[in-house]
Amino acid sequence: MSLLSDLLKELQQIKELSEKAIEAAENSQMLEELRVRFFGKKGTISQGILKKLGALSPDERPLLGEKANEVKTLLQEAMDRKNRRFLEEEESVFEESIRIDPTLPGARRMAGFEHLITKTQREMEDIFLSLGYEIAEGPEIENVYYNFETLNTPDWHPARDDQDSFYIVPDQWLLRTQTSPVQVRTMEKKTPPIAIISPGKVYRSDYDATHLPMFHQCEGLLVDTDVSVSHLKGTLEYFIEKIFGERKKIRLRPSFFPFTEPSFEVDVLWENKYGETRWLEVLGCGMVDPNVFRSVGYDSEKWTGFAFGMGIERIAMLKYRLTDIRDFIRGYAHFIRQDL
Ligand code: DAH
Repeated sequence: MSLLSDLLKELQQIKELSEKAIEAAENSQMLEELRVRFFGKKGTISQGILKKLGALSPDERPLLGEKANEVKTLLQEAMDRKNRRFLEEEESVFEESIRIDPTLPGARRMAGFEHLITKTQREMEDIFLSLGYEIAEGPEIENVYYNFETLNTPDWHPARDDQDSFYIVPDQWLLRTQTSPVQVRTMEKKTPPIAIISPGKVYRSDYDATHLPMFHQCEGLLVDTDVSVSHLKGTLEYFIEKIFGERKKIRLRPSFFPFTEPSFEVDVLWENKYGETRWLEVLGCGMVDPNVFRSVGYDSEKWTGFAFGMGIERIAMLKYRLTDIRDFIRGYAHFIRQDL
C-alpha cells in the first residue's frame, strides 16, 4: 500500500466519522465545536492529512490536496445545512415564546376612581332626579343677604354664631356656610311649583374628627300648594331607603332652624354588627317658614313647602361606616381606591 492510498483511506474515514458527528450534533453550539475540531489549526484535517502532504511525491500532492478540499467542502456544506435547521428551530421556539394570545385577558391598568363624596353626591342626585327634582346651583362666595338674612337669620340672631364663618368682606361677603341660600336664589328666579336639590361645597371654621372647614351639603326644596309634613317624611323615607340600600325606620325630632317652621332633625334607626340599634342623626329639615316666602315675594298664604339640608360626608360616613371625616381629605391611596 502506498502512503497516498493510506491517506486517501484515512481521509475517507475522517469524512465518514465527521458526517456521523455532524448528524449527531444536537444544537448549533455542538456544531461550532465540531467545526473547530475538523477545520481548526489542530483539527483532524490539518493534523491528520494536510500535515502529511509533504511526505508525498510532488505529483501526488495535488490529488490528496484536491480530495481533502472536496471533503472539507462537503463537511462544510453538511454543517451549514444542519446549522440552518437549528437556526430555524430556535427561531420558531423564540417566536412561539413571544406569540401573542389575543384571547388572554388584558393586563389590568389601575383606573381612576370617583372620590367617595362625588360618588355619594351622584347617587343622591340620581335618587332625587328620579323623583322629578331638578339640580340647582349657587355661588360658593355668597352674600350675607342670601346666606343669612333672607333665610330669616338677621344679624342679631344667635343661629349666626353656630356657623363660624369665613368672611371675605366682613359682614358682607363670605364663603357660604350652608347650601340653603340656593333655596332663595331659586325662588327668586322661578314660580312654584318648585322641586330642587342643590349639592355643593360649604365652609365653616371647624376642624376635628367630625368637622371639616370645607365640606359638602345637599339642600332640598319643594314648593307647591298643600304640602304637608307627611310629604316631607315620605320623601325622606324614600331617599333614605334608596341611599342606604334598605328600608330604615326614621323619626322626626323637633328642632330649630330659622328658615323652617316647624323644624326637625331626622334620625335613622341604625343597627351595628352586633344587632344593637341606635338613633343616628342624619339631616335637618322642616316646613318653609312664611317669612322666607315673603322675602322672595311669594304669597305665603298660597304656597307651602318643605326644605331639607344634609351633609354629604355624613351620609357617606354612615353608608361606608367611617369614623373620621378627615379620611376624606387625607389622600390615602387605599381610601381613594375604596378598598376600605
Ligand atoms: N342649613 C342647615 C345647616 O347647615 C341645614 C338645614 C336644616 C337645611 C333644615 C334646610 C333645613 O333646608 O330645612 O345646618
